[in-house]
Amino acid sequence: MKRGDVQAYTRTSLFLHWMVAILIFAAFPLGVYMHDMPLTPDKLRYFSYHKWMGVTVFALAVIRLIWRLTHTPPEMASGLSRWERTAARCVHAILYLLIFAVPLSGWLMSSATGLQTVWFGVLPIPDLIDRDREFGDFLLVVHQTLNWALLAFVLGHAVAALNHHFFARDETLVRMVPLLRSRRTRASKP
Ligand code: HEM
Repeated sequence: MKRGDVQAYTRTSLFLHWMVAILIFAAFPLGVYMHDMPLTPDKLRYFSYHKWMGVTVFALAVIRLIWRLTHTPPEMASGLSRWERTAARCVHAILYLLIFAVPLSGWLMSSATGLQTVWFGVLPIPDLIDRDREFGDFLLVVHQTLNWALLAFVLGHAVAALNHHFFARDETLVRMVPLLRSRRTRASKP
């Protein structure tokens, strides 16, 4: 296949992939930062921003899963070995799972601690469980652990994508970042 005719992800897939990624890149450090803050109005404000981002990730994850189940993604780059394909599929499946599990654990924790989320200050999100401080503490640990797992898988995923682009020099990253396509096509012209 010529470099210019790479099979691409649809615009919807690209939008959902990068919106979820941007929100996670913003919500994760905010979560770490606000956790150790003393209880002030600022902390409560950051809690709200973090929860709004989490609810948005959850909503986008639902749309993303529906989109994924109803649309076939492009074939993986040719030249990948069997184990690389299997590893990529497993990591993608785990990432799908985590973009549900991370916000869901936060939502459950927020419900257990009795701090209802009002999405962007407008839409009240129903609590999923009754108030229970002890269970809330346990859910905090679950939420933190899932977040560190998400970070580890996202880092591995990003390193693999960059490795494909800069070392294997295949089209894996180009399909997810169409801007790179024109650059690479220009660069490969004599
Ligand atoms: C929170 C961050 C991220 C999450 C949750 C995430 C999740 C995913 C998932 C689930 C897929 C599979 C899509 C499908 O075919 O159904 C995917 C594909 C992809 N992602 Fe990410 N991603 C994230 C960040 C990144 C970053 C930072 C990069 C690049 C540096 C990247 C590059 C790619 C590429 C190139 C593909 C296509 C792989 C292929 O077609 O084989 N992703 N991502």
